[in-house]
Amino acid sequence: MTTKKYPIAEVEPGMKLASSILTESGQIILAEDTVLTATFIEKLKLMNLEFVNIAAKPAEEAPAVLATAEAFDAVYDDTLQIIESCFSTMRYFKEVPLMQMKELVDTSINLMMDAAGLFSYLHTIRKQDDYTFRHSINVASISGILGKWIGLSGEKLKDLIFAGLLHDIGKTQIPLEILNKPSKLTQGEMKIMKSHTIEGYKMLLKEPGTNEDILYGVLQHHEKTDGTGYPFGISGEQIHIFARIIAVADIYDAMTSDRVYRKKQTPFTVIEEIRQDTFGKLDPAICMTFMRNILDYFIGTKVLLSDGEEAEIVYQGNHSYPTVCTRDGRFIDLEVNRDISIVSLV
Ligand SMILES: [Fe+2]
Repeated sequence: MTTKKYPIAEVEPGMKLASSILTESGQIILAEDTVLTATFIEKLKLMNLEFVNIAAKPAEEAPAVLATAEAFDAVYDDTLQIIESCFSTMRYFKEVPLMQMKELVDTSINLMMDAAGLFSYLHTIRKQDDYTFRHSINVASISGILGKWIGLSGEKLKDLIFAGLLHDIGKTQIPLEILNKPSKLTQGEMKIMKSHTIEGYKMLLKEPGTNEDILYGVLQHHEKTDGTGYPFGISGEQIHIFARIIAVADIYDAMTSDRVYRKKQTPFTVIEEIRQDTFGKLDPAICMTFMRNILDYFIGTKVLLSDGEEAEIVYQGNHSYPTVCTRDGRFIDLEVNRDISIVSLV
């Protein structure tokens, strides 16, 4: 990428940063590739910066297919870094780097979503650190694929993925001592935490590049179909379809992730739990579409069984317990043999 050094007075909205801008302590406040807005430029002037490096031509296109776990990981890690700096920008400037985040939807998230091994890859690369950033990428990709299964396409699908990526940006307005508190939140702290839905909505409301679908997807992603959610306790189809889709992706991703208070669970355990416990709180049709498709998705996946054997998923009936084939060619129906279970994906 060719770069040019511009005096801050000559920088215009729409120009793209060729290198990150750091605070004195080394924290990235605007990342490489950020498209500058008038507000960003104003703030940079206030920081008394003299020059900034501007990209002379757009970054290279990413490769077209992610066929291996390594290729997936590389794109995922790049995306993670960009999301991390976007969240830092939002906390510092209280402005959403919307164009930069939207570009991710068109490039890397689109690529990840189309990877044949998406759910297996997501499951194996999970770590406990920087949960919010990973969660945003995961919810965007999972919402996207679920949207496709439901029949969305084109701009509507892109908007859904974008809403998935943005769904928790309100957390950048929550004090870090509450956001990162390792112990149980008090009632007051919980109330502040829950305000991330409204905060995210308010941040997006002043941005020209959003629309009603995206705004409601973000605002209502913690509403429940039985009316027990927040912020408003609305129910059923009063909840926007984007929010109902994101809610399923959100719960699946949270339950299959390692958290401070519990280890990640296999997709099969989570799907069974969603079927038993959460069903009345999520949109039943969306939930059914998700469960039916995701189980099919894992056919051919290698797994480790609770008796220590490795096996491959060969058949998925109408329940969460697949039939597997062990290395020595034995078929085990896990619905019938409940004393054996899948402990991890290989
Ligand atoms: Fe949330």
